[in-house]
Amino acid sequence: MPTIDERIANSTTRIAKLVFPGQLTHHDFLFGGTALQWMDEAAIITGTRFCRQRLVTASLDRIDFEKGIPAGILIELVGKVIKVGNTSMQVQIDIYIEQLYSEERELAIQGKFTLVAVDEERRPTPIDR
Ligand SMILES: CC(C)(COP(=O)(O)OP(=O)(O)OC[C@H]1O[C@@H](n2cnc3c(N)ncnc32)[C@H](O)[C@@H]1OP(=O)(O)O)[C@@H](O)C(=O)NCCC(=O)NCCS
Repeated sequence: MPTIDERIANSTTRIAKLVFPGQLTHHDFLFGGTALQWMDEAAIITGTRFCRQRLVTASLDRIDFEKGIPAGILIELVGKVIKVGNTSMQVQIDIYIEQLYSEERELAIQGKFTLVAVDEERRPTPIDR
């Protein structure tokens, strides 16, 4: 049986995307709601890979939009389980922006998601350990 630390390492998820002009707001940065959708999806993938159970998003903690994300660059979402409770877990999602034609990379958005494992009746159920 893998240890919790091994399960966290194995479930850590990286998703790279290109940002296109059609995803920008009138201020020429990526729409925050689009970023949140990508973050929620990355959180569910990360959590599911950790426990292989049905998960729902219970809450989003503070989300920090530290840098605007322009078009024509690469972003990478990195999801990692940071806390495992009884039926819930916390997953941190960081979004990095990365230039296409240089190694330059910086943190743009950070947030924490609480996910709850549910059974077939959508009732909270313990996370397998
Ligand atoms: C999330 C949900 C299953 C919780 O059900 P509930 O009966 O209120 O849950 P409980 O009070 O028994 O708490 C269960 C766990 O969730 C945690 N939790 C519940 N609501 C929470 C919230 N708003 N924020 C953080 N944690 C929360 C509890 O702390 C508890 O954690 P623990 O077992 O690790 O100690 C229920 O509210 C729900 O189904 N919400 C809708 C989810 C949804 O539609 N998400 C979007 C699409 S995936």
